[in-house]
Amino acid sequence: MSNPHHPTHPHPPSPEVVANAHVTAEQYETMYAASIADPEGFWREEGKRVDWIKPYSQVKDVDFTLGNVKINWFADGTLNASANCIDRHLATRGDQTAIIWEPDSPEDDAKHITYTELHGHTCRMANILKGMGVTKGDRVVIYMPMIPEAAYAMLACARIGAIHSIVFAGFSPDALAARVTGSDARVVITADEAPRGGKATPLKTNADKALAKCDTDTKMLVVRRTGGDIAMTEGRDHWFHELEAKADADCPPEEMAAEDPLFILYTSGSTGQPKGVVHSTGGYLVYAAMTHEVTFDYHDGDIYWCTADVGWVTGHSYIVYGPLANGATTLMFEGVPTYPDASRFWQVCEKHKVNQFYTAPTAIRALMGKGNEFVSKCDLSSLKVLGTVGEPINPEAWNWYNDVVGGGRCPIVDTWWQTETGGHLLTPLPGAHATKPGAAMKPFFGINPVILEPTTGEVIEGNPAEGVLCIADSWPGQMRSVWGDHERFEKTYFSDYKGYYFSGDGCRRDADGDYWITGRVDDVINVSGHRMGTAEVESALVAHPKVAEAAVVGYPHEVKGQGIYCYVTLMGGQEPSEELRKELRQWVREEIGPIASPDLIQWAPGLPKTRSGKIMRRILRKIAENDYGALGDTSTLAEPAVVDDLIENRMNRA
Ligand code: WTA
Repeated sequence: MSNPHHPTHPHPPSPEVVANAHVTAEQYETMYAASIADPEGFWREEGKRVDWIKPYSQVKDVDFTLGNVKINWFADGTLNASANCIDRHLATRGDQTAIIWEPDSPEDDAKHITYTELHGHTCRMANILKGMGVTKGDRVVIYMPMIPEAAYAMLACARIGAIHSIVFAGFSPDALAARVTGSDARVVITADEAPRGGKATPLKTNADKALAKCDTDTKMLVVRRTGGDIAMTEGRDHWFHELEAKADADCPPEEMAAEDPLFILYTSGSTGQPKGVVHSTGGYLVYAAMTHEVTFDYHDGDIYWCTADVGWVTGHSYIVYGPLANGATTLMFEGVPTYPDASRFWQVCEKHKVNQFYTAPTAIRALMGKGNEFVSKCDLSSLKVLGTVGEPINPEAWNWYNDVVGGGRCPIVDTWWQTETGGHLLTPLPGAHATKPGAAMKPFFGINPVILEPTTGEVIEGNPAEGVLCIADSWPGQMRSVWGDHERFEKTYFSDYKGYYFSGDGCRRDADGDYWITGRVDDVINVSGHRMGTAEVESALVAHPKVAEAAVVGYPHEVKGQGIYCYVTLMGGQEPSEELRKELRQWVREEIGPIASPDLIQWAPGLPKTRSGKIMRRILRKIAENDYGALGDTSTLAEPAVVDDLIENRMNRA
């Protein structure tokens, strides 16, 4: 018998939740088995969730063999994603709110945008882009605050067949420039400033700096958000509001092939610079729509809120495409959880009577630390389902979310997925599964997870099992390629474990067959739910004239999940100082963005390397974790004394 007071004791859904659910335990078992036994048949039916201009006859055409990787779903069908998110709802729910926009400051008014209004805004934006020379297949970079115009921009691109590439507004001009160049973007859509937590980020000024570094022929479309003072470059930059006043409010959607790219989204990996993850139009939309409905148990009329930013994949699939394809009411929040105070999330839930609430463990941990009064003073009785995403959630945070926010009534869906996967791959379903704090629980329909022994690559059968997480077969939402580099796509995801999609995550399947994500097994770290390649931070550091070498690892951080720990070796003649520490932090913020700001910097006279010159990160991780008693074998090190110095001086980190 398990102990009901134990923090990982299972939480079954209440009979009321089960009675109302799209999927019950029995239905899950039957549908899941069918989806694995006959993926063609399963997705042939589910593909009908979206409207096709020309219906597909082919369903799945997939090969995971290295050197020949191809992923095609519904390939001979045609559709338009924007029409699926807007036009098809107009007859039945034109007056229903599509987007609720809640601004950064609670003093300012929220907006309610109906599906009919969304249609007008999107069409006008689409016509403006056409007028700026954007045609089918062109790339458009979106660098925006969390305002409705960001959603219009995405849907406008989709409408005319342009491929959007969103760059999170917290990224620096350098990072933006790399992405504009990488996709050879025709237009950057931005805003004067992005208000967040009472502070404004100068987006237009950043975009100016970025374009100054690009050789591309790129125009700019600028939304006025704050009215802040900015410079406009004649001939290159255009005000959105000026063009909108003249733009035609009708723009017929372009007929797109299912496999035409819908968007590119850059994400970090274990080596090199971020890569452009390419998602398709048809398969992605089917998968985003289905997971949104089933995972959150979304019902018509519900108010759904995902607190992510559209700069991340969560914002793509679960603020815009999934919910709008389902005709949902989706809430977009411009601000942060702690501004003006730690009650903000809960006040927004109360104000808009939110039914499904989806956020990240880092936010939960930060708010948990502020005390329960911030939650309990709000009326959260509208909440039905809670979700988390982005990193493993610790049982303490899970239990607080469950008890204090959900009042013990709301199932928590701990959704594991990735930019690459397009939508949820492992998650409990609200009416089907007894959840366990910290477990991503079960595969979604059509998902065949396998746990492999990391070194041999052998599949570990039976329960319990622990190893690296791979997926044995494709699903419609899977990424199709790396923008401009299909070989890198194959190498990153299909070369380590032949015949499987390799996630980069470690995983445990417990005795009951439930899945627990144990974290990344590569050199990717997860800082406040933001994915960061340690190689990116290292290359930013070594670009500084005073830095000779740098090694970056993650370490456990109470609120952020993982913090960024940097070992820095200075150029000969350079002295460590507090000013230099500050300077390096500022440097990394400018090279990448504030989210990459080092938490701890330790000066390292040398780094532990093998005789062939490879940095031994395993040792650096242990020292960062204060686990230096268990360094393991250091005999292969070129200079073992380097390690003693790092241990001795570890308290000088700051
Ligand atoms: C981690 C975010 C544990 C994981 C959607 C994955 C999680 C990476 C969870 C992808 C979860 C995401 N439990 N870990 N529920 N969700 N992760 O691409 O390491 O920004 O590989 O996509 O976040 O991050 P990405």
